[in-house]
Amino acid sequence: MDSLKGRDLLSLADLSIDELNYLLDLAASLKSGMVKLKRNKVLGLLFSKASTRTRVSFTVAMYKLGGQVIDLNPNVTQVSRGEPLVDTARVLDRYLDILAIRTFEQKDLATFANYAKIPVINALTDDEHPCQVLADLMTVKECFGKLEGVTLTYLGDGNNMANSLMLGCAMTGMNVRIACPQDFQPNAEIVEKAKNIANGKTEVTVTADAEAAVKNAQVIYTDVWASMGQEEEAKIRIPLFKPYQVNEQLLKLADKNAIVLHCLPAHRDEEITDDVIEGSQSRVWDQAENRMHAQQALLASILESD
Ligand code: CP
Ligand code: NVA
Repeated sequence: MDSLKGRDLLSLADLSIDELNYLLDLAASLKSGMVKLKRNKVLGLLFSKASTRTRVSFTVAMYKLGGQVIDLNPNVTQVSRGEPLVDTARVLDRYLDILAIRTFEQKDLATFANYAKIPVINALTDDEHPCQVLADLMTVKECFGKLEGVTLTYLGDGNNMANSLMLGCAMTGMNVRIACPQDFQPNAEIVEKAKNIANGKTEVTVTADAEAAVKNAQVIYTDVWASMGQEEEAKIRIPLFKPYQVNEQLLKLADKNAIVLHCLPAHRDEEITDDVIEGSQSRVWDQAENRMHAQQALLASILESD
């Protein structure tokens, strides 16, 4: 296993377990400066939702590899005026070497990948956020020296993060517990996929019981209660999600060496309290930094020699 040359990454499950581990190792080598790659390639960023970390970390990662980046803001392209995706995909395919897309529906990403021959990377959809989970796994490995056997509890909305974390944990031999309100559970197909990958060897649990899920866990993870596109539901969601807030009281139930992760941006004193995100167990800034290293590994691997 030495490259992902020419490949798409639409879901974390597009990677084999060997490929995922290879990327995590490559990211660690790039972080420690042991590997230097130079590629004069062009990455397009087609983002239909806001982004700080993903936009900047992809851009810097590409620059560090010696490549170029074009920000294809939908508002200044014909995308916002309704040019069909299948046309945009075939045209961008002629100019770019690789394209990262942030959009709403996973099926639009799949359509794009189908019509563009260049590699297409999922930079977040409503269903998944695989690039974030590459960085999350890298962070857990840095903190515990391993992934196998480590238990991660995710609290809050059964959203794109919950989905990709379930896959990533199952693929790397971690135990994963998702605690969310009954009506906000993660995608049932992805839960099934994660359970199949874990194959009874590790835990994949979905529960409404936040306290039981946190007990003895080593990684406590949360994300916003209303994702991009759900802003109008925020008022209804806040009271329903309150029992899933990551606060000092809940954190006491976790393993005493537990770390706290959040993909960011965070809503302080909604899904996570200020004292926890700023506290000694928080690793969110290392986690955010690792976006850049993990994506540099992904880009280097996909754009490997022609
Ligand atoms: N975590 C994450 O994807 O952040 P951005 O939305 O800022 O890119
Ligand atoms: N679940 C969040 C993640 C942001 C990085 C969203 O989709 O808005």
